[in-house]
Amino acid sequence: MKKKFYITTPIYYPSDNLHIGHAYTTIIADCLARYKRMRGYDVHFLTGTDEHGEKIERVAKEKGVAPIEYVDMIVGNIQKLWKELEISNDDFIRTTEPRHTKAVQKIFTKLLENGDIYKGEYRGKYCVHDEAFWTEAQLDEDGNCPDCHRPVEDRVEESYFFEMSKYADQLVDYYNSHPEFIEPESRKNEMLSNFINPGLEDLSVSRTGFKWGIPILEDPAHVIYVWIDALANYITSLGYLSDDETNFEKYWSEDVEILQLVGKEIVRFHTIYWPIMLLALGLRLPDKVYAHGWLIMKDGKMSKSKGNVVKPESLMARYGNDALRHYVLSQVVLGSDGVYTPELFVSCVNTDLANNLGNLLNRTVAMVEKYFDKTVRKNDATTEFDQALFATAETTIKEYESQMDKYHIDKASSAIFDYVSHLNKYIDETQPWVLAKDESKKAELEMVLLNLCLGLRQVGIMLQPFLLDASQTIFKQLKLVAANQEYDSIYNFYDVDVISVAKGEAIFNRLDVEKEVAILQEGM
Ligand code: ME8
Ligand code: MG
Repeated sequence: MKKKFYITTPIYYPSDNLHIGHAYTTIIADCLARYKRMRGYDVHFLTGTDEHGEKIERVAKEKGVAPIEYVDMIVGNIQKLWKELEISNDDFIRTTEPRHTKAVQKIFTKLLENGDIYKGEYRGKYCVHDEAFWTEAQLDEDGNCPDCHRPVEDRVEESYFFEMSKYADQLVDYYNSHPEFIEPESRKNEMLSNFINPGLEDLSVSRTGFKWGIPILEDPAHVIYVWIDALANYITSLGYLSDDETNFEKYWSEDVEILQLVGKEIVRFHTIYWPIMLLALGLRLPDKVYAHGWLIMKDGKMSKSKGNVVKPESLMARYGNDALRHYVLSQVVLGSDGVYTPELFVSCVNTDLANNLGNLLNRTVAMVEKYFDKTVRKNDATTEFDQALFATAETTIKEYESQMDKYHIDKASSAIFDYVSHLNKYIDETQPWVLAKDESKKAELEMVLLNLCLGLRQVGIMLQPFLLDASQTIFKQLKLVAANQEYDSIYNFYDVDVISVAKGEAIFNRLDVEKEVAILQEGM
């Protein structure tokens, strides 16, 4: 039986178009989904949109349209964006779809019947922006929302409550028995000391102040709290409590590796409320909630409301998908914040894609053309630099796999590019242009060039989840048949012993730093 992998991104608010922060999460998820597929897993990759709530209701009102009209428009843009970025999601869930709303109502009913949810009265401080109630004690020094630091409002309303504390011990047990559940670990400690250890408060899970949400079947004056609605997407999209639970049984069973990627600001929802919902429903918990950091601008977090956003569509249109992917997949350490600057963007694509990888392919193909009329064949000549190259090939593959298996994409990417550097160094060491002058060194020269081609073949294979175009460019220029592009062939360096080349377009054209930085600074 195939191993199974289920990966999710947060479902984004269609309150406005998305920026590269959202593209960042989705590209990471895409890279991991592609990697697992390449390694033979049965993968299910989910993303989507979180369409209910007071904020969306307000935005639509401001624009003078019905909420559904507004979200239909933005969701259309989001789906178009993912298509342009070649995101390989298997499903896209909209929380306004009947398959979701019906299942959320059933979940609510189930929790009511279990006695996990009861009716009461809520008094508290409410942050409209984050759609979250806070207690007095949780507010920041200025009495504002502790997350976004905007002013909060006093609210009293009849509300249903979820008795979270009932499951606190079970949750802590899960943390303890699954030490890798929350990454980075610092986030787990935060959850324990800020929320769990002081005693979990019952969570208000319904609202009466607005209409744009999923009504409680038993009490339609209430709509279900948007976070309960939203979190449920990870199982409703699989058909949980529907007439057809095939996907749910397939991808939410114990034998699935389940990874949930989230930004660090929504860890609390994903590592406290969500697991408690699952415990109450008697369902398994995910293997890991990976909290990544933010892409920030020099003036702080990128946000729709601040207006300091970088549009992924514009970067993609000017520099292509690979440049955008390479930037987000290599420059930001998963778990930490990364600063976006035009200089860093341009220099990282120039250094890695144009100079390092682009040059390697270009030089290699040109030399095979020039010295061997486009075809090199294996013979038994060697150079003193070969063993070191083979050793790097081996350690690179090991490092790549172990980092990818831990979801440390940035480190896997550096492993590949270090190997590319070694291949470039191998050219400097062996000096093919010197060998070419000596007829007695012909066999050696041919092997040097073949080794370069075959190193590039391994690089192309490892790059497939990362650089969608560059990996294909490598395969095309080395005229590799499908079997020689398969992942498992990577362990055998001489899987191919004849390589013919076909010169083609460059992997990436070097950017004029000054010009591009100026264009990027103008804002895209
Ligand atoms: O929170 N850097 O939706 P949202 C990196 N609907 N990642 C960023 C980012 C940045 N500057 N800005 C946004 C919601 N993100 C809820 C989620 S899930 C059941 C409900 C990414 O539109 C990051 O993954 O505010 C973050 O968690 C997510 O977008 C928030 O998207
Ligand atoms: Mg947000």
